[in-house]
Amino acid sequence: MNRPLIENRDFLRHFWHPVCTRAELETANPSGLGPLAVTLLGERLVIANFNGNIVAMEDRCVHRFAALSTGTVVGDSLRCNYHGWKYGPDGVANHIPACPDQPIPRKACTKRYECQVKYDLVWVRLDSSWDCTDIPFCGDWDAPGMRSIVGDPYTWNTSAERRWENFTDLSHFAFVHPGTLYDPAYDRPPIPAVDRVEGELRFAILPPQDMLENLPENAPIGSFTYRCSMPYTINLKIQLYRDSSIFTLWTTSSPIDATHCRNFMIISRAEKANDPDHAHKAFQKLVLSEDAPIIESQWPAEISLDEVSLATDKVSNQYRKWLRELSIAATKGREAFVGALKSDFTDER
Ligand code: FES
Ligand SMILES: [Fe+2]
Repeated sequence: MNRPLIENRDFLRHFWHPVCTRAELETANPSGLGPLAVTLLGERLVIANFNGNIVAMEDRCVHRFAALSTGTVVGDSLRCNYHGWKYGPDGVANHIPACPDQPIPRKACTKRYECQVKYDLVWVRLDSSWDCTDIPFCGDWDAPGMRSIVGDPYTWNTSAERRWENFTDLSHFAFVHPGTLYDPAYDRPPIPAVDRVEGELRFAILPPQDMLENLPENAPIGSFTYRCSMPYTINLKIQLYRDSSIFTLWTTSSPIDATHCRNFMIISRAEKANDPDHAHKAFQKLVLSEDAPIIESQWPAEISLDEVSLATDKVSNQYRKWLRELSIAATKGREAFVGALKSDFTDER
């Protein structure tokens, strides 16, 4: 038996997802303006900067279906480089070189999607018809005294759901990250209270302080507070045991499709002298290199209803429950979907 947790993935189109970093867009072409091809929920998109207005459109010229991401930004238009049609930021063709004196056909427009830049990431919402979601919370992005850096995005051959679960999995540290993030002697995970608050799953844990003795200095161990905006963003705020300063790891898994995700990370930490960015980036890369082979080995890449769960899988169990509720509610319309998203719940303590 292998029944998928989520049968209908259309609800994911109502959320904002990051598709690239601002730096990736700027370096995609010597112009600094793109275009850049990305894929979100199976849709091929092109991102381009039209005179400071960053736009997401379907990556296809309606003339003969060439990819617009092979085109060129010219002023406030994106030119298809097959026959030179130009599209404005509204996705409508505004110039057809072969027939400059003819009216432009009414159907000469490509689909355009809502697009915003926040936290130096480019975000897209494929379906804004219900307009009931916000770009997720990133707590320490511009907090005073904190330094935030955007990590290098990485792609994993798994669903965004499995990546989310891996990041919040409290039982795996002792086995996947012994000596890096955790002391393997502590292999019995805590079972936190898991609340739903305004579209976020929230929980907190206190790893044992003794572990510090056996871990590298860069290991961010302290009191862990998780705020997870559904469906794929995690804001993990850590008050470090070493010096009580704040260290925040923020991550979003962007669903390329049902079995691939592109992951974006922001690391925020208290400004300190002699604390180079590369050391933190390298430490996170090491941790990811420990996770990736196992997570990419899970099959199928989509979560199955037939997996065997324990009480210690509470975070994952609660996440699965909510995801499934959202997916089913969305098939019933906006009101049901908003109701499922705002279904606040306070767990027993
Ligand atoms: S395919 Fe784009 S202009 Fe012809
Ligand atoms: Fe991990």
